[in-house]
Amino acid sequence: MVAFTLPKNSRLTEGKVHTAPAKQEGHEQRLKTFKVYRWNPDDGQNPRVDTYTVDMNDCGPMVLDALIKIKNEVDPSLTFRRSCREGVCGSCAMNIDGANTLACTKACEDVDGEVKIYPLPHMPVVKDLVPDLTNFYAQYASIKPWLQSESPAPVRERLQSKEDRNKLDGLYECILCACCSTSCPSYWWNSDRYLGPAVLLQAYRWIADSRDEMTGERLDNLEDPFRLYRCHTIMNCTNTCPKGLNPAKAIAEIKQHMVERRG
Ligand code: SF4
Ligand code: SF4
Ligand code: FES
Repeated sequence: MVAFTLPKNSRLTEGKVHTAPAKQEGHEQRLKTFKVYRWNPDDGQNPRVDTYTVDMNDCGPMVLDALIKIKNEVDPSLTFRRSCREGVCGSCAMNIDGANTLACTKACEDVDGEVKIYPLPHMPVVKDLVPDLTNFYAQYASIKPWLQSESPAPVRERLQSKEDRNKLDGLYECILCACCSTSCPSYWWNSDRYLGPAVLLQAYRWIADSRDEMTGERLDNLEDPFRLYRCHTIMNCTNTCPKGLNPAKAIAEIKQHMVERRG
């Protein structure tokens, strides 16, 4: 029987426990514990899980608020990405309480007990909660995510009927956070060749655009046993998308286009 064991230097160790904030007289505390994955490529140590306690009566409601408070007031070495803090940039995607989501839209009170925070799964880690998205972005570039047209540019703009514009609903809202791709078992095992749900949803966004004239070339680019057909409709992607999108449906639509053009 095959034995699967993790390399020694990847095993998690018990990390530092940071002391809880001191209670001030007359101030009611509402303490919440955060268990946060830490790994520093420069210190040669194994990854560890540090423990922080935050007084939620003195902190914003979201997990990102707690992380920023920890970084500002307890441990400036804690590293994570964030920008918009309102669910539109996609940079604070991480694994919280066992599910991939955005730290800025996940309320601490929606997590029972301690809040466990890890980087997006099955990605190389740059540091702490920051995954390396180089491959993800290269895959995104490979689908040519811009309007391609050979007909001469109109004087003013390329028009689209309301009905055709409606076909982009549920696609254009994707913020490329990678929560879906990093929840997909097919992507975990084949991310070198399978494009994954986020990039395939983006690919379909251009296939579905009535103004784009490269539909055939776009489908040719996906006609491959790995790039598209590693999706086995497991649906993790759709269940985890923090924007409520349905990448599995977009993938099914691409497969349908493939069938239709074969005649
Ligand atoms: S489909 Fe949803 S989960 Fe996937 S990248 Fe786009 S916004 Fe993120
Ligand atoms: S439906 Fe496809 S893309 Fe989505 S999680 Fe399942 S295998 Fe991955
Ligand atoms: S900080 Fe931009 S999505 Fe969370």
